[in-house]
Amino acid sequence: MKAVKRKGLALVALAVMLFSAACSGNSGANPPASNGGGASSSSTTETTKAPEGKKITLGFSQVGAESGWRTANTQSIQDSAKEAGYDLKFSDAQQKQENQIKAIRTFIQQKVDVIAFSPVVESGWDTVLKEAKDAGIPVILTDRAVDSTDTSLYETFIGSDFVEEGRRAGTWLVEQFKDATEDVNIVELQGTTGSAPANDRKSGFDEIISSNPKLKVIASQTGDFTRAKGKEVMQAFLKANPDIDVLYAHNDDMALGAIQAIEAAGLKPGEDIIIISVDGVKDGFIAASEGKINFIVECNPLLGPQLMEAVQAVVDGKEIEKRIVTEEGVFTSEDAKRELPNRKY
Ligand code: AHR
Repeated sequence: MKAVKRKGLALVALAVMLFSAACSGNSGANPPASNGGGASSSSTTETTKAPEGKKITLGFSQVGAESGWRTANTQSIQDSAKEAGYDLKFSDAQQKQENQIKAIRTFIQQKVDVIAFSPVVESGWDTVLKEAKDAGIPVILTDRAVDSTDTSLYETFIGSDFVEEGRRAGTWLVEQFKDATEDVNIVELQGTTGSAPANDRKSGFDEIISSNPKLKVIASQTGDFTRAKGKEVMQAFLKANPDIDVLYAHNDDMALGAIQAIEAAGLKPGEDIIIISVDGVKDGFIAASEGKINFIVECNPLLGPQLMEAVQAVVDGKEIEKRIVTEEGVFTSEDAKRELPNRKY
């Protein structure tokens, strides 16, 4: 197995590039900070500033509690808000867009200082984002993107490059099977249908494996990022396809559910079926260190500190980068064994 070195766990430090007076009409006095993390542009919105000395109120709409990644992400946001001294209004959407829209409307009525949310799916946000903009409340996207063409509807998007994560998974697989003389049958467990990570992890992976026609995705279905669904769909895959070589799961939880199905079918995960997953949560690391997952592409959930920094910048009327990319690594089983004792989530 090709040794792949972990590139690092740290988030792009201080990726929120600030420069002063951007809102006060003297833009041009200071040039924008250089793009250190894949940012493409920067923005400010005409927003109502929190009065001097007033506690900042942040309304946050979370996707749900579907995975270990999400639990760690929620914890990071709650801890960081507490540490920053913000009043956090937290709402769990239980994986439903309608709940997120309701929560955002409630935050608007409550006149919070900033709204942040992790959009469950990419489409369908323009109307509610326009309502927030009209109310003068800045919005920050975290973890997942929206497909709105009007980027003035939000201040910044802080999170991973999901296409790149898919490419990393594909690159490892292409290397493993570079000498394959027979077809390599791949099954794919996709994340929540219509979500940015599901769309992008698929497209990044497909882009890379298309370089080798022996690599064939023979079945691809959503497992909704949950363990239970990952198990259920894998059971169906195994029933319909007697000769599966590889499982590509868009997150650890689905891979862990699938491992149960593979073992129940009398097969050895990691040997009879090569497994690639995304996230790098502790349970994923345990499975990898046991050789049941062969390769993990990291997706870092600890976005709280960056989010709070962005909230402060927005409230202060400072300009921030439109795109803040999280830095992440990759782990083989060997890497996971070494890193496991240090894994916090
Ligand atoms: O948006 C990030 C994804 O959402 C994580 O990879 C997955 O585990 C979570 O549910």
